[in-house]
Amino acid sequence: MQLLDGVLVSGHIKEQIKQEVKDWQAGGGKQPHLAAILVGNNPASEAYVGSKVKHCEELGFGSTLLRLPANITEAQLIDEVNKLNNNDEVDGILVQLPLPNHISPDAVINAIHPDKDVDGFHPISQGRMLLGQPTFLPATPYGIMLMLEYYKIDTTGMHCVVIGRSNIVGTPMTILMSRAGNPGNATVTMCHSKTKNLKDFTRSADIIVAAIGRPRYVTADMVKEGAIIIDVGINRVDDATKKSGSRLVGDVDFDNVAPLCSYITPVPKGVGLMTICGLMKNTLLAAKLRGKK
Ligand code: GUN
Repeated sequence: MQLLDGVLVSGHIKEQIKQEVKDWQAGGGKQPHLAAILVGNNPASEAYVGSKVKHCEELGFGSTLLRLPANITEAQLIDEVNKLNNNDEVDGILVQLPLPNHISPDAVINAIHPDKDVDGFHPISQGRMLLGQPTFLPATPYGIMLMLEYYKIDTTGMHCVVIGRSNIVGTPMTILMSRAGNPGNATVTMCHSKTKNLKDFTRSADIIVAAIGRPRYVTADMVKEGAIIIDVGINRVDDATKKSGSRLVGDVDFDNVAPLCSYITPVPKGVGLMTICGLMKNTLLAAKLRGKK
């Protein structure tokens, strides 16, 4: 079993991005700038956004963090998005999800200008991805593809089972893994919470992408010997042995599944770090495309 090491791969990609930013600015390009909107104070969202802003500093990007109260109206939030759309300093905009229940995430995502949609969530970005046109790929699926590429894993002809059908991970993963190219060229099955006899599908999988949001849901009896496991889950579970009283686990029962696999991503230090790489690559691309306009 080999670990797919998010620290190693993201470190390598971040060095590439840093250099690319320097080269871009040396050629007269403007410093890439990411604006993040955080509504309310969900602790997990605080941590994710904090990490994104910290990475901006580390990689030489400018950043703006806009903190808005949980009771903001949808119209007010869309107004803030529009201000960022019209701000020439800003190249990329992300609105951290989830949003409070009274706000429609679709309405807010639709308000982001597609040229600044560095999360790749806008219908135009998703439509372009579906059609195989150049676009901003959603950050987590993009990061997973970068990881498979780094380890030169040839997925051609493999059976890939994606568990989860969210717009931001499961659904785009099915598109990227089935598209022509490598990584890609796989035969893909999408499973989700209503799938009957999930094990029948996962046991024939050469690759499993677990993005269902349930701690240690994929167990050893569901996995074929030699399979590749990509664990997208980040779940906090109680752990009395830890000072904080909790720890992070993935959607895969790592301890029992890892000995069976050819490759597996750990949680933490796996896919999560790759998401940041996807986001930062998209923001740099946005800055370059805007610079050429
Ligand atoms: N919430 C969970 N994942 C993501 C992500 O990749 N982007 C944003 N904006 N919100 C998220």
